[in-house]
This record gives sequence, structure tokens and C-alpha cells, in this order.
Amino acid sequence: MENFEFCNPTKIIFGKGILDRLGDEVRALGEKCILVTGKKSARETGVYNQVKSKLKEAGIEVLDLSGVQSNPVLSKVHEGIGMARKEGVSFLVALGGGSVMDTAKAVAAGALYDGDIWEVFEGKGEITGALPVVCIPTLAASGSEMNGFMVITNEESGYKLAAGSPHTYPRISFLAPELTFTVPRDYTAYGGVDAICHVLEPYFNGPDPFTPVQDEIAEGLIRTLMPATKRCMEEPENYQQRAALMWAATLALNGLTRAGVGDHPFPVHLIEHSLSAIYGIPHGAGLAALLPGWMKWKATLKGAKKVAWFGIRCLGCTDKGNEKDTALEAADAFGRWLSKVECPRSLSELDIPEKDHEKIAQNALFQSRIWGIENDYNENVIKEILSFCQ
Ligand code: NZQ
Ligand code: ZN
Repeated sequence: MENFEFCNPTKIIFGKGILDRLGDEVRALGEKCILVTGKKSARETGVYNQVKSKLKEAGIEVLDLSGVQSNPVLSKVHEGIGMARKEGVSFLVALGGGSVMDTAKAVAAGALYDGDIWEVFEGKGEITGALPVVCIPTLAASGSEMNGFMVITNEESGYKLAAGSPHTYPRISFLAPELTFTVPRDYTAYGGVDAICHVLEPYFNGPDPFTPVQDEIAEGLIRTLMPATKRCMEEPENYQQRAALMWAATLALNGLTRAGVGDHPFPVHLIEHSLSAIYGIPHGAGLAALLPGWMKWKATLKGAKKVAWFGIRCLGCTDKGNEKDTALEAADAFGRWLSKVECPRSLSELDIPEKDHEKIAQNALFQSRIWGIENDYNENVIKEILSFCQ
């Protein structure tokens, strides 16, 4: 186990009827806020009116930043920063999925940043403070409700980049599983795949061979996420299953499974962000199309042990007597599960042609350099991985 420091400052309020506590819990954050929402779901489900009236009952003036798109863009962040500075707001409330939560975080940091917040995403600046953010996730996926990360696409440059800081952890997140009842089948599945990938990245890529605590937590989350994803697709208003999916997705990227694993990259996310930036596909769909091929690449060229463990401990694969064959069986078994939850399992299933590998690799290389992993994930290695994913 490696040295680590673990601090997650986000207060989580979880369960039924918890929005009744919203006013009391956020009153101390100030008298004026921006309520950030997506394209339409919050208004269509009625939760927007519910949240807005509770904030007003608490004596809080509410400004709207609506219309955040999936794979959120920098121009919306700039719009929010302008509003936050002009109106002197004291905090933000994010009501939506990861795209909405990430936009709110980027506005919160950008409002106090001396320059263009995009500098931070390019690794040229550092966040030294942010307005408080309150998250009310309506989709179980990104884990943004309990971490300091945010992922934004610059529409001009065509890059989708991640940034993070201790200042951009939400102050409070209200996790109400009932708000996810209306999530359609596809985004229920994409969200489950995203959470599974958040667990797998440190699980597969940590350098330390002895991390039993982290492995057991990771495998337990995977064994929860996979069946819960399928059950929520079949029974969208099954509270217990939606609750399990929501809490597991939050734990998947709140730092718990990464502490003590040692320095590790997120290579599948590295490449997927480029797929979303170039093709505008949902994040979870891009991850699904990459995961089986990436596992085969890992098993063939980088070490099969943990992929074999994943198969035996999470997918019911039998030990084939050698790690590589077991790992390749695990990759196929996971691919079969992806098909069962109606997700793509290859780039071909997303109609992404082999001739685009060069373009994708060049785009991903930009983030690889910012993350400082270009020695391991240079253009040729990324193209090699893509060939396993085609
Ligand atoms: O825009 P609206 O109308 O709200 O519709 C959304 C959107 O179309 C819809 N939706 C959300 N809640 C719903 C609902 N539809 C019905 N009922 C509800 N209750 O779902 C669609 C997808 O929403 P989005 O926020 O884009 O999905 P998700 O939560 O998967 O977030 C994806 C974003 O998160 C980033 C991704 O890169 C992507 O931009 N990530 C953020 C991370 C983080 N901050 O830690 C890590 C992740 O790896 C990920 O990169
Ligand atoms: Zn993700």
C-alpha cells in the first residue's frame, strides 16, 4: 500500500424527502445563488420548481443558468462566470447530471479566478478558491457530487479536458434516488458503465501489487453496480435499486478506491474524452466502446493479473490456468454484459471508423501531456489501444 492523504469535505444527505432540508442547509451560504440546470429534464419532472421554491422560501434570491448540454461547453461556463461576477452571487446550486454539476463547479472556480478558467484545464493555472457549490444530482453516473473534478469541452479548440481542485468539492450534495426514476434506459446504462470505469481505472492501473482494502471495495462496488444498472433499466422506479446505483456511483469516484493505490492514470477516460469531444457521444457510451478492447490490450501487452481477477471475482469467469487467457475471457464476458445493457462494446458499434484513429490519438495526446502520462500514453500507444477497441 502506498502513502496517501484522504480528505473528502462534501457533506452527503441521502434518501427520501431530503429536499425539505434544502433551505435550512444552504441558508448559511448566502442570499443569492445561481441555479444551474440542463436542457429540459429538471423542468419536465417538476424538480426545478420544487427546488426553486424551497430556495425562495429560505429567503434566497435565485438566478437561472439553464440549458447546459451533455458534454458541457466552455461558452456556458463563461456565461455563468459573467453572471456570478455581475450579480455578486454567493453560491451555486447544480440540479442535474454530471454536465450540470461540472458546469457549476467551473463557474464557481472561474468567478474567483484571475484570468480565463480554461487556463486551468490546459494546466497553465491553478484554482485557489471557488464559490460554494451545492449539488442535487438527478442521474447516477459521474460521481461529480462528491469530488473536486470537472470536465469541460472548449468548442473552439475541440478539446474536452478535465480539471480539479480541493476548492471545487461540493459543500453539500443531496442524493435523492427518486430524482433518478425518470432517467431513460440508455443514460441509466451509460451512468452505470461510467461508474464501473471509475472503479476499474485505479483497480487496473495502480502500481502497488498489494492493495487488498482497495481491491475488496472496488470489487464490491462492481458487483453492486452491474446488477443494479440492469435492474434500474428494467424497473426504473425501483427505489432500492436506484438508491444502490446512486450511492455506488458516488463512492466510485470520491477518492475512497484510489487512496493508497499509488500514482495511476485514467487511460480509458483519456481516450473517451476525445471521443466525446470529436463525436459528441455520451461519456458512458464512449467508455463502453473502449473498455473490452482496452482490457485485451492490457492483458496482452501490459499485464493480465488484475484483468483476470476482475473476471474471476466480478464476472464469474473460471480460471483458465494462465492469467492471459483468463483475462481475455474476462474482456469478452464484460463485452457480453455491455450488450445485455444495450451499450456499444467496440468503436465499430459507434460507427467510428479505423481511419479516425489518428485524429482521436492526436486529440487525446493533448490531455495526455497535461496529465503528464505521455511517456506511457503517446500517440502510438493510443493508436495501438484503439486498434484493440475497433
Ligand atoms: O439536459 P437534461 O434535460 O437535464 O437531460 C439530461 C441529459 O440529456 C438527462 N437527464 C439527467 N437527469 C435526468 C435526465 N433525464 C431524465 N431524468 C433525469 N432525472 O441525461 C442526459 C445526460 O446528462 P449528463 O449530465 O450529460 O450525464 P452524466 O451525468 O453522465 O454526465 C456526463 C458528464 O460528466 C462528465 C463527463 O465527461 C460528461 O461531460 N464527467 C464528470 C466527472 C467528474 N466531475 O468527476 C467524471 C466523469 O468521468 C465524467 O468525465
Ligand atoms: Zn467517467
